[in-house]
Amino acid sequence: MPAHSFILNGNRVTVDCPSDVRLLWVLRDLLGVTGPKYGCGLMVCKACTCLINGQARQICGIPVGELKPTDHVVTIEGLPAAVGKPLHPMQEAWLELDVAQCGYCQPGQIMDAVGLVHEVHAEGREVTHADLDRLRNVCRCGTYPRIREAIKTAAKKM
Ligand code: FES
Ligand code: FES
Repeated sequence: MPAHSFILNGNRVTVDCPSDVRLLWVLRDLLGVTGPKYGCGLMVCKACTCLINGQARQICGIPVGELKPTDHVVTIEGLPAAVGKPLHPMQEAWLELDVAQCGYCQPGQIMDAVGLVHEVHAEGREVTHADLDRLRNVCRCGTYPRIREAIKTAAKKM
């Protein structure tokens, strides 16, 4: 079986598996990183979202063979280290506003939120309601209003 190598939460990892195995299952089943969740497997619900080279991506649809050795994958587990703090500002805002309910969708929500703020700040502007409307992560518990408030709070500290 081919070996696939990339950088996961700051550390190099190598896995032996077929190239078409989706990254979600490589992380969860082969590497024991379970922050990214399985919701739909169709790149729709966004429960599996991680950052790849700083961009929010739905890894249930990304074959591991597409990753390059230089690619950086960050999951919710690696988010605090990415900013060198006990918690990322987005996680702090989540706690401050008591966002989570059952919690299942929340890692994906946070990773998409971080990706969105990075993207908006790279354009030299602040997060708008239209930006928040672009986040289509499914939350069966309906935590959407608190998510929007938390993103606006965190964006001021990022
Ligand atoms: S599990 Fe990846 S988008 Fe739903
Ligand atoms: S907090 Fe339960 S699905 Fe979002």
